[in-house]
Amino acid sequence: MIAFGLHLYRAKQRFCFGQIISIRSYSICSFSSQVYHDIATHNITDGTGGLDASIFFETNREENVGAGMNNTLSDFETYPNKYVSRADIIAIATVFAVATCSGPVIPFRGGRIDANVAGPSGVPDAADSLDSLTANFAHQGFNVSEMIQLVACGHTLGGVRYPDFPTVVAGTGSTTVVKLFDGTQQFDHNIVSGYLDGTTQDPLIVANQTMASDTRVFGSDNNVTMQSMNSADSFAQTCSTVFDKMLNTVPSGVTLTDEITLVPVKVSAVQLTVGTSQLQFQASVRLVLASSTPTVTMYWCDRYGSGANCSGNLKRYAAPGGSQTVSSPISTGMGVTLKKYQFVVPIDASQSISKFWFTVDYGNGTTVTANNGGSDYVIDQDVVLWVPSMSRDKSVLTGSNGVTVTAAVKTSSGTPSRVYIDCFGRATTNYLPVNATYDLALNTSIPAAAGYTFYTGTATADFGATMQFDLYAVAANGTNYVDTYRQSGLIGVALAPASTVNSTTTGGGAAGASGAGSVRLGSWGSRLGVGMVGASVLLTLRYL
Ligand code: HEM
Repeated sequence: MIAFGLHLYRAKQRFCFGQIISIRSYSICSFSSQVYHDIATHNITDGTGGLDASIFFETNREENVGAGMNNTLSDFETYPNKYVSRADIIAIATVFAVATCSGPVIPFRGGRIDANVAGPSGVPDAADSLDSLTANFAHQGFNVSEMIQLVACGHTLGGVRYPDFPTVVAGTGSTTVVKLFDGTQQFDHNIVSGYLDGTTQDPLIVANQTMASDTRVFGSDNNVTMQSMNSADSFAQTCSTVFDKMLNTVPSGVTLTDEITLVPVKVSAVQLTVGTSQLQFQASVRLVLASSTPTVTMYWCDRYGSGANCSGNLKRYAAPGGSQTVSSPISTGMGVTLKKYQFVVPIDASQSISKFWFTVDYGNGTTVTANNGGSDYVIDQDVVLWVPSMSRDKSVLTGSNGVTVTAAVKTSSGTPSRVYIDCFGRATTNYLPVNATYDLALNTSIPAAAGYTFYTGTATADFGATMQFDLYAVAANGTNYVDTYRQSGLIGVALAPASTVNSTTTGGGAAGASGAGSVRLGSWGSRLGVGMVGASVLLTLRYL
């Protein structure tokens, strides 16, 4: 699982956690100040600011200094993509961090939009008066109860450290000393019970009056809110609700998706490409399993020939080449078991492939057809295909500059007037989105294979950790073919062993049939990456 460090809240003078939070240096049971800092820019009156990843442009502020903050920022470099913003990744990371520490599974919605400039500053300070703290939270859209809930839920994890807060935590020299807020690194209600029964050692309560912001906040409604959170269940429920609101505090122009829920079937890593003498097709399907271990089979239709589109009911099929149980703090928190089945099959180029689907035989008389709600997973075209095995990522080819992309273009479709890639990434140097187009040239050093000729080009811009691209071939007649949303990060990724291909004219569920057991990809899953084959979920929300 990805151990995101989250930094939910940050106040002046290296407030709130830049330290424990980082995945690299500190505990995973932490948040990121990025979330709350972004939210702290929200102005409830005019709807500006909120969770928009503007923190990436604000690290030179005094309120954002600290190694933890910068490490946390770099932790988030890898995961955003063309469709999923950094702000969404920060929100997902919050959900993960809370669940990792045995907290509740916070509902998640997608659709946040990244800012490309810094937002206003002005997050609260532990030395602020209660009036100032209350006004600050109110400006962001949180009333007094919610302020108390947010601070209590945030301060169930982590603590205050020397030398960042020498008036709160004692220490000597440069040695770091951390005083935990509630004595544990679990998402528990000790922060509440200790405050109410007087046993708390919360540094923002016991150290000194000037910096006793937790005392001021927690007692601001005569302990009514704290008393209402003084059990494991009420604490978890309250924190889930108030963190949900925090994560959904976005600029007024942003529309978030519906809550993203577990889909029973998720198809991913779909790729049709060219091998040495034939095509190669790969796809993965992730299922939610009950107690039984099912037999999973992938079926598909030819694209050409007498069996095209399953004419005569001709279907090809194969068993998975590998499978693995996948889990995350979220799946654990939800109590579900997920298993992913990987298929890699050779495809005769003269037959090719037009669509595919799966059957899941539970061995108890129940067989479910997973066919995208009756639409099957459709492969749009096979004229232009990305060839990952002949491409090179900058991280794969030491010393190279950029990502070298090789495309296969179907020879029988004629010489294309143009082959090019439209690339997208998020730069690591300035955190800005990068779009650039590069032409690919005919590469005669690669011998034609399986009826395809090869084109190569190199994308040289700083696309960050991974580049996504749409691969285009413009045919002589003007038709534009596209292999959509490929990812450089898949270069060099090991595949499961190839499976034996069989064929049948019976069984396997009828292609295109919408049976009672049909399942459909979740809408946001589809939004995340319906690729050229119509079914490639490209950002794997690991818990879904
Ligand atoms: C009245 C508002 C708040 C004030 C004045 C405040 C102040 C502080 C301070 C001084 C620290 C110590 C930071 C360090 O030593 O580096 C801290 C840590 C922390 N705060 Fe807050 N905080 C506030 C609200 C919040 C909220 C709303 C959250 C989350 C929703 C939160 C989550 C955390 C966490 C997780 C830590 C631990 C960081 C670590 O261990 O490195 N805080 N806070």
